[in-house]
Amino acid sequence: RQRILSGMQPSAGSLHLGNYLGALVHWVRLQDTYDAVFFIPDLHAITVPQDPQELAHRTRITAAQYIAGGVDPDRATLFVQSHVPEHAQLAWVLNCLTGFGEASRMTQFKDKASKQGTDAASVGLFTYPVLQAADILLYQPDGVPVGEDQRQHVELSRDLAQRFNSRFGETFVVPKPFIQKESAKIYDLQNPTAKMSKSASSAAGLINLLDDPKVTAKRIKSAVTDAGTEIRFDTAEKPGISNLLAIYSALSGKGIAELEADYAGRMYGHLKVDLADVVVEALTPVRNRAEELLSDPAELDRLLAKGAAKARELAAPTLADVYARVGFLPAA
Ligand code: TYM
Repeated sequence: RQRILSGMQPSAGSLHLGNYLGALVHWVRLQDTYDAVFFIPDLHAITVPQDPQELAHRTRITAAQYIAGGVDPDRATLFVQSHVPEHAQLAWVLNCLTGFGEASRMTQFKDKASKQGTDAASVGLFTYPVLQAADILLYQPDGVPVGEDQRQHVELSRDLAQRFNSRFGETFVVPKPFIQKESAKIYDLQNPTAKMSKSASSAAGLINLLDDPKVTAKRIKSAVTDAGTEIRFDTAEKPGISNLLAIYSALSGKGIAELEADYAGRMYGHLKVDLADVVVEALTPVRNRAEELLSDPAELDRLLAKGAAKARELAAPTLADVYARVGFLPAA
């Protein structure tokens, strides 16, 4: 079986609709046909200042949402990044193969660093994409299912895999980004030309998996649209309406053209009211299941410990091979 691997940061606690539709839904679908590895990148979460208690709590919440969203811990390998030390170990080796200029061109770093002021940004934030490459390459996956915004990071992992292979001999599988086009990007409800993002969006622009359904419905109904009246998918002229149609389509399985036909001659308000129902109906079972899982944190921790043991079995041989190839003296 071919393998896929992916992860989502625990930084916000609740995942948002972009994480859900851009990532989790695809993971769950792929888990049927691929050997799947999913993890919670907590090492990445400290590249910006964090509250220690919150981080631990949010790591559990994130794990609960993976499972509630359909990740099956018996079939997939599900674990927390910091439980598998090989990630940090491989990242060091890859850091030494990454050009300073190459890392400087990563757009997510530039965005995040410019928000903090480049001098205040940590070196960890700078090498974040290299750690991500280590996450990926350790497990030799064929595909990495992510949203469009992570494409550049997956490309870096490909470049590093190829570079390592050509310098030290065939070691890594060169992974492909698996990006679902249609709903690959969900936009901020208040600012529909920017991606929905826990760090950049205002609260009103976000749909969170764990929010109260009333809050969720209200946010859909207050979404920014445009001064026109026609319900039509047109990202240039109608980014707000297009985003609502994309969300509707992804959650209902109806095509965009079908939705346009259904709403021909109707008002924006009709679309919003119906979509609020569709979103609440889709997310409520996920939220309920996540809360159930969180009511027994010890059991959740046991699942994650089992997952970490499985992950180490996959990661350790890759790291051992890398260490030997770069010329480290065997420890034993
Ligand atoms: P993160 O936590 O920002 O996002 C997790 C996943 O959600 C997708 N996503 C979106 N999709 C559609 N619309 C949006 N508005 C939206 N916002 C986020 C992302 O594309 C991603 O698939 N660096 C990664 C985490 C990571 C990782 C990895 C991913 C660390 N190591 C190894 C894959 C493989 C990140 O910050 O994703």
